Amino acid sequence: METAKLTLRGQDYELPVFEGSEGEVALDVRNLRAKTGAVAYDPGFGNTGSCSSAITFIDGEQGILRYRGYPIEEIADRRFSEVAYLLIYGELPTAEQQAAWSKGLTYHTLIHEDMKKFFEGYATKGHPMAILSSMVASLSTYYPGNDDSPEIVNLNILRLMAKLKTIAAFAYKKSIGQAFIYPRNDLSYSANFLRMMFAVPAEPYEVNPKVERALNMLLNLHADHEQNCSTSTVRMVASSGANLFASIAAGICALWGPLHGGANQQVIEMLEHIEADGRNYKKYVDMAKDKSSGFKLMGFGHRVYKNFDPRAKILREAAQDVLAEMGIDDPLLEIAQRLEEVALHDPFFVERKLYPNVDFYSGIIYRAMGIPTDMFTVMFALGRLPGWLAHWKELRDDESGRIHRPRQVYTGATERHSG
Ligand code: CMC
Repeated sequence: METAKLTLRGQDYELPVFEGSEGEVALDVRNLRAKTGAVAYDPGFGNTGSCSSAITFIDGEQGILRYRGYPIEEIADRRFSEVAYLLIYGELPTAEQQAAWSKGLTYHTLIHEDMKKFFEGYATKGHPMAILSSMVASLSTYYPGNDDSPEIVNLNILRLMAKLKTIAAFAYKKSIGQAFIYPRNDLSYSANFLRMMFAVPAEPYEVNPKVERALNMLLNLHADHEQNCSTSTVRMVASSGANLFASIAAGICALWGPLHGGANQQVIEMLEHIEADGRNYKKYVDMAKDKSSGFKLMGFGHRVYKNFDPRAKILREAAQDVLAEMGIDDPLLEIAQRLEEVALHDPFFVERKLYPNVDFYSGIIYRAMGIPTDMFTVMFALGRLPGWLAHWKELRDDESGRIHRPRQVYTGATERHSG
């Protein structure tokens, strides 16, 4: 067995070394404290492998992203329901599995009628991410079943996959004072969601197939991204034995933050601001370089990618195509392209390897679809749900798992007394 040598205060220790299936090298520090008395110090977890996982592989240096081994470029146009199945169950579904999965996904879309009343309690202008997380946590009051039974686990996975889009669309309808539109079982995941968002009872509504296709792709591109902040949160909460709905509700809250999924809303707000400010891109690039300004170029940079985010590459092309296909001329697209060009040639961004991330172009497509800005992060959550479910299941299936409980290095006052 390969080992790494650690010398601490004159004493040598051997740390086991192991390798992942793509050659990533890991030092196993599980017994570090027991053997040496020292802990591994890594605030922000930039060097910490919190688990081993067989779901998603990222090579941040080369800009590679694969779900269960399949490159994101091959996955992008598959049916979202298939991609969800792949992530959660490890393989693309057979025709028979897909038929059963799709049927479940449509037949579980309704929420309990009593839950509709919950929407009346939220402030009209309340952020839909707050509504989404609390509604998901509330689902556990309707489905309190035993998470240890595989049948209940699979049923709850199906329920949540099916119901999240209904909750998301109802939250939007409530915010604009329109009637809830119930799901329809003959529509695809994306078409069903679009109809619940944009149809009104007074007239027929046809889903635009171009919008349906674009949404399907966006959901796929967001479906998983290994141990990001929200997924790590889901795993952390699940490690205590918390139920599926509680764990995912926590993940939704983590996603909401502007440094994570909330960045897609911030990008559009930033682009609107630049537009209103005479399109002075250079000024905003300069502000982002000035640490004292507190301003960051939203949609730029990534903890793992030190190269183009492969999802951003796909989305940059898609934004152009979708807008052209829909005959939309959005000035924000040009501003985004110009901003990207300036930043990519600026030494500050080049030296720090800051490239556009998934959130940089996604909002421009959501806008073209008619999705309001404060729903953008909800769209991210709909896409990310299969990833959260896959990680929740992987963690719960791992019998060797322990509760997540990091250590700290205490730097406060040493013992003192008030008398
Ligand atoms: N604008 C200006 N400077 C930046 C930016 C940016 N967007 N991102 C990073 N930097 C600088 C940062 O100040 C630091 O500079 P220095 O080395 O001089 O101190 C350097 O680049 C390294 O950045 P970091 O903050 O150490 O990187 P991190 O891995 O801790 O943070 C990040 C990653 C994504 C939170 C950060 O790049 C950021 O805040 N970006 C803007 C928000 C954003 O777009 N978030 C979406 C991320 S992708 C999708 C998702 O996760 O949901």
